[in-house]
Amino acid sequence: MALLAQGLTLSPPPGLPLARRSNPRKTELASARGVQPTHAAAATTALVAGALTNRRTPGVGARVVSKAAKPGKSSWSAAEAEGLRSDFPALQQEVKPGVPLVYLDNAATSQKPKQVLDELNRFYSQDNSNVHRGMHTLSMRSTEAFETARQKVAKFVNAPDSHEIVFTRNATEAINLVARTWGAANIAKGDEIVLTVMEHHANLVPWQLLAESTGAVLRFGRLRDDGTLDVEQFESLIGDRTKLVALCHVSNVLGCVNPVERVAKLAHSVGAKVLVDACQSVPHMPVDVQTLGADWLVASGHKMCGPTGIGFLWGRGEILRGSPPFLGGGEMIDQVTLEGSTFNDIPHKFEAGTPAFAEAVALGAACEQYLTDLGMAAVSQRRRAGGEHELAKHLWSRLEALPGIHLYGPSPETQPDRASLVCFNVDGCHANDLATLVDQDRGVAMRSGHHCTQPLHGELGVTASARLSAYFYNTIEEIDVAVDALEVAIGLIRTGPAGDEPELDPAMAALLDA
Ligand SMILES: Cc1ncc(COP(=O)(O)O)c(C=O)c1O
Repeated sequence: MALLAQGLTLSPPPGLPLARRSNPRKTELASARGVQPTHAAAATTALVAGALTNRRTPGVGARVVSKAAKPGKSSWSAAEAEGLRSDFPALQQEVKPGVPLVYLDNAATSQKPKQVLDELNRFYSQDNSNVHRGMHTLSMRSTEAFETARQKVAKFVNAPDSHEIVFTRNATEAINLVARTWGAANIAKGDEIVLTVMEHHANLVPWQLLAESTGAVLRFGRLRDDGTLDVEQFESLIGDRTKLVALCHVSNVLGCVNPVERVAKLAHSVGAKVLVDACQSVPHMPVDVQTLGADWLVASGHKMCGPTGIGFLWGRGEILRGSPPFLGGGEMIDQVTLEGSTFNDIPHKFEAGTPAFAEAVALGAACEQYLTDLGMAAVSQRRRAGGEHELAKHLWSRLEALPGIHLYGPSPETQPDRASLVCFNVDGCHANDLATLVDQDRGVAMRSGHHCTQPLHGELGVTASARLSAYFYNTIEEIDVAVDALEVAIGLIRTGPAGDEPELDPAMAALLDA
């Protein structure tokens, strides 16, 4: 009834044949139990949602294609922020006819600007040749572009020396590198590794593996009621036995910013080392490794306008030089005999085999020709139109008004610098069902699941959550579209479709019966 009153019909989306009645009860059960809904449940919600595609707010989908003048800016106007969108081809699409993409899954991966895509294409078209191995022109060009990219990344995070930047596949590999090299050589039975309960699995599992093989002990910083790290409790864990403190700069679920500088000072005062998982900070705010004062910092290129398959580790030169190699093979050696090998200097010691050099070059372009040009201060700038803090505030305040919603992490009042991502659950609605509905209804790319933080979700008392995460190219209007779509989805899930139940196509029906 409620749906009909809003002028909605329940016909399936075009191309989906009418076959049999759905079993919404199964969807409800899956949601109520807090389990992953089955494909059939997702299909049911998708089917219902397909009827809602015509409800887009007029004008919201319109893309502004004027190019913003932006070199070196520390802030930009709303119009300029909107103009930036034309740099991103993927943002220009409709996910189905009449439904423009509203991409709010940036914490998982960002979209790529054409400057980066062009550089990747240019490199493969003109300079492609294996690096560090040849005397011919292309090999020289390729090597130079690769090493210049290293310098650009170093500059982007203010590393004192570009040799301290090791290219890895992603942040996960970078953390494993530290665990398997420095960790294996320096951590012993009884040593303590201090982490937080909010860590991504990438900054937890490698330390669990290390602890299992060495007999080291893991200790965990917990949360305050306001969704921030309990800094006092965390610091109370750092003592004489602590060998390593590893924490995220910004949580990919809570959106909180952790006080890395303060923690690093304390850790160093007891002789411990500090690793910072900067996956959710480097893309969004100016990050300076020298100011943070950590010993290693990791990030993934694909979350910061760069390609997939490339990330980086920054480490203090003396620590990297003093650590054993990671993988063995070409590039990382100095001299090899049948009896043994000596190793190259950093960073090559840690870059065995052919690196993802084209992707590294494109990451360099993302850092320098795109993000630096844009101005990282402007990306994060509070109180400026288009700045991510503005998006974070709007996202939080719109979400918080939804009935039965539980938001995780600190509010923008509690932590004004919090990230522009919000995780949440809604009473009676499974996150996966909500994500399916908002996608089908309004083209909103929203993530659902545990976001690779199962222990944190355990602390929060849930198994999954939904996450909307913005980047500088998102607009206030897009957040409105997403939250409006959520409101409709919540209503649908709670009351169920009024009148006739939608019907499933035979394949989905078979899944439902299975
Ligand atoms: C905080 C954090 N750390 C680590 C990772 C792992 O990144 P990747 O999968 O690119 O290695 C992610 C990815 O979502 C993340 O958000």
